[in-house]
Amino acid sequence: MIVRKTAAELEKMRQSGLLVWKVLEALRALVREGVTTQDLEVVAERMIKDAGARPAFKGYYVPAAGAKYPYVLCTSVNEEIVHGMPSARRVLKSGDIVSIDTGVELHGYYGDSAITLPVGEITPQAGKLLAVTREALELAIDQARPGNRLSDICATVQRHVESNGFSVVREYVGHGIGTQLHEEPQIPNYVDRRGENPRLKEGMVLAIEPMVNAGGPESQVLSDHWTAVAKDGSYSAHFEHCVAVTAEGPRVLTRP
Ligand code: MF3
Ligand code: CO
Repeated sequence: MIVRKTAAELEKMRQSGLLVWKVLEALRALVREGVTTQDLEVVAERMIKDAGARPAFKGYYVPAAGAKYPYVLCTSVNEEIVHGMPSARRVLKSGDIVSIDTGVELHGYYGDSAITLPVGEITPQAGKLLAVTREALELAIDQARPGNRLSDICATVQRHVESNGFSVVREYVGHGIGTQLHEEPQIPNYVDRRGENPRLKEGMVLAIEPMVNAGGPESQVLSDHWTAVAKDGSYSAHFEHCVAVTAEGPRVLTRP
């Protein structure tokens, strides 16, 4: 069942969403050559706790991994797609791209968002990957309207990514969000004809999160049981926003 939220609930989700946005903006300002992904983790954890919120990822049980995720952030560098773990040994260098994904729970409601940032000078191909993934998310957000179907979001991401010569990852998907981090429906970044294809209704909140590889779509999980990487070693980008479906159109909760 897809839970629909009242206006009062959307207002709470807005608060969670804005906190996630503030954290990501603070991290955006810190990312440069020489910074470690652990440096980012420390800042994010402090900001979330100071705001009276709880980091949503830390301790979150992920069935596919069979374990609880141990950090506030997922920091996925270059060919890492998602669930990259912050580390004091991971020093960012010019030419890297780093996906920063985080979530919070505030007053019982969740917010979840991700950005991918360039470090120093990146190649034109990497720059195009970031632009196309960000565009795919924006185009998909515009489909989050009452009367559309879930597949309108999925197809929009897939079309934009593939027409630009990149691939969408199949193993990781977006999701509904509310009083749980992951609610129904699952939101693949491709058209999955096996899945149900519900109509979008007012009050639904969707975490749309394209994960895009510059090369092939195949992924694999490293021996740490968490880090998902592009099998061919190509760069991978990830952007995510929480979007409410309203009568007035899509309302992005995770930015001002
Ligand atoms: N943004 C991802 C998602 O929404 C990552 C969360 S998984 C966790 O599914 F392991 F970090 F909790
Ligand atoms: Co998410």
